[in-house]
Amino acid sequence: MKKEWIINDNSLDAKDLLKNESIFNVANGYIGVRGNFEEKYPDGFYTVRGTYINAFYETVPISYGEKAYAFPGTMQKIVNVTDAQDINIIIDGEKFSLFEGRIKDFKRYLNMESGYYRREIWWISPKGKEIKIKITRIASLSELELFAIYYEIERLNFNGEIVIESEVNGEVKNYTNDSDPRVSAAHANILNVKSVVLEGDILQVESQTQNSKEIVSTTVKHCCSVNYDLTIEKNLKSIKAIYRLESSNKLIQFTKYVVYTDSRRHKEPSNCGFDIVEKVSKKTFDELIQDQHEYLKEFWNVADISIEGDEKLQQGLRYNLYQLLQSVGKDPLSNITAKGLSGEGYEGHYFWDTEIYILPFFILCHPKLAKNLLKYRYTILDSARKRARELGHKKGAAFAWRTITGEECSSYFPAGTAQYHINADIAYSYIQYYLVTEDMDFIKEFGAEVIFETARIWIQIGHFDKGLFKIDAVTGPDEYTAIVNNNYYTNVMAKYNLKWAAKLYDLLNQKDKEFLKSLCEKIDLNNEEIQLFRCAYKNMYLPYSEEYKINVQDDSFLSKALWDFKNTPKEKYPLLLHYHPLTIYRYQVLKQADTVLAHFLVEDETDFQTIKNSYDYYEKITTHDSSLSCAVYSIMASKVGYTEKAYNYFIDTARLDLDDTHGNTKDGIHTANMGGTWMSIVYGFAGLRIKESYISLSPRLPDKWKELKFKFLYRGAIIQVDMKKDKTIVGVQPKEPIKLKIYNELYTFENSKVMEIMLR
Ligand code: BGC
Repeated sequence: MKKEWIINDNSLDAKDLLKNESIFNVANGYIGVRGNFEEKYPDGFYTVRGTYINAFYETVPISYGEKAYAFPGTMQKIVNVTDAQDINIIIDGEKFSLFEGRIKDFKRYLNMESGYYRREIWWISPKGKEIKIKITRIASLSELELFAIYYEIERLNFNGEIVIESEVNGEVKNYTNDSDPRVSAAHANILNVKSVVLEGDILQVESQTQNSKEIVSTTVKHCCSVNYDLTIEKNLKSIKAIYRLESSNKLIQFTKYVVYTDSRRHKEPSNCGFDIVEKVSKKTFDELIQDQHEYLKEFWNVADISIEGDEKLQQGLRYNLYQLLQSVGKDPLSNITAKGLSGEGYEGHYFWDTEIYILPFFILCHPKLAKNLLKYRYTILDSARKRARELGHKKGAAFAWRTITGEECSSYFPAGTAQYHINADIAYSYIQYYLVTEDMDFIKEFGAEVIFETARIWIQIGHFDKGLFKIDAVTGPDEYTAIVNNNYYTNVMAKYNLKWAAKLYDLLNQKDKEFLKSLCEKIDLNNEEIQLFRCAYKNMYLPYSEEYKINVQDDSFLSKALWDFKNTPKEKYPLLLHYHPLTIYRYQVLKQADTVLAHFLVEDETDFQTIKNSYDYYEKITTHDSSLSCAVYSIMASKVGYTEKAYNYFIDTARLDLDDTHGNTKDGIHTANMGGTWMSIVYGFAGLRIKESYISLSPRLPDKWKELKFKFLYRGAIIQVDMKKDKTIVGVQPKEPIKLKIYNELYTFENSKVMEIMLR
């Protein structure tokens, strides 16, 4: 077992256990199970026992004191589904628990190379019975419906009876907390058990959500290596299989195959569950692990980044990439939630996090999965059109700020619906995908319509004022400043959206007139409207301060008072939990990167000096209360030459969840930050940028590291970058000529080539 692929934490402290439920979640993009103990903790220990299915949701009413026009009336939330984690081992009448008897040895770890999570225990019961237990779990990456638990029990000093009790429990609740807006405040009981069934040796619990009427079936089969006597206990909500093991064999192997099927993906979830469980249980647990290993081998082949000179950061980095793979939806119905499938924070919603923070990694390392994420937006385009009408826009699509199936789920519009920038973020990610892959077929099928429909909204929420195109009453990414005129980020991203809509129109006009014609007919788009797009983007107003020589976050930003950071004690952060929003809105104080992020995404809009000035100005007033902030500051610190800062921000992102630096990892991991960690390396230290006809690199290796190696895919070729202290080695195997700018020199790679470039 290679240390650099392992995450371990053996603490049995109650607080660590709760955090580690998120850290040790096993997921595969479809199902996710928190790292709870099968046998549970003692009474009094706090736990969030959870299993989630990506995009499986309940609809709940939103209650407002004062409800205004077009406020969403309902919202969706991810459901904590049937609990199949329960397994108890009873040794000669004594129940195994890590909190009783004596532990001679205990290890708890995640293996990111082979895709499993394990607990290894050497335990002496209160009456002196000694056993070794190894418990391994996987959420299968190749059989998405399968979650499996494997027990290996070794008797060391006794021959008596061992009983294994394995339960499927339909009596589950969602987690609520009414003092943290990042967690749901109500609606804990949303899943009702419909039936509990035993068929042969297969157990099944079928449940249904109260309002959305979605069905989830949990089908379980066991496999035991020794003879047993089986009894079943069943009630209206749960079913338990009790295995009395007859043999006095030293070694016992027991596998629990758990198959989740749901009505959003499976026509008849319960019937399907039986078929799938029969199929997957033909494989031994060893074979399932082998499959995990194979899948991951392929994934890591491109995705892995190796850092020489810092074990802890290396570990954090790999963990974050592993979690991205675990969390990403593998079908176009699902996306990647803010917390992956590891917890209920942000209620399983998808945000702009995907497009701006996570898609870059998938586009450049796993385009197949990137396509799913992009397709998802296409599948909810009709809902975005509907939302646009509700908001009073006659044409186009307005994507929801937070959602599962497309409907707006944000009840706080100043930091929700007002974040119109999500429209531009989505368009941006399609364009980035196109620039990296040149996959015009995909853009035609799923992208063009989104790019045109999102662009249309800017024309309607913006207006010409003395020849300049301005956009009023929006909120930018910084949620500590709301409903402002001309947020620089929004305007510059809208400009990009409009510019590309016009460009794509021209491109399609050249490449596929027929297609363009039918699309224009479908969405009633014409050349005149495209002209308007051109006029708006060419005259887009981008606020700038002569006094500070910076791009200003919005029209009123600089006239506000500065937040009194000196007299704000540490315990008052994050500010959102301690101050009324209006207090925060009155000051120059940022939750997260805003203008600085815009300078990264569309750097060619601004000269280097302005970018640097902006960095200096905004950094001082940014709290980084959002986990989406540090990575951007790391990337931009690299860009403006602050190498130490770049490194320190990188540390913050790489270990944010492992070290629980935001104090809320218990509610789930922070997936946007995880994508940001990858970006801090590839866009930050290596300085990668995707330009229209080439890519560029400006490597800057942090002083503390000896070497940094990574790969990415560009136009069908694998590009390998190996950054050392004095030089960078770039290896390219192009399928077609590739233009790569390194520092300021443009090279064309036509054949496989390895180049050494001395560090600047
Ligand atoms: C951030 C948003 C983000 C959301 C979900 C909030 O705290 O301010 O930008 O989309 O978290 O991650």
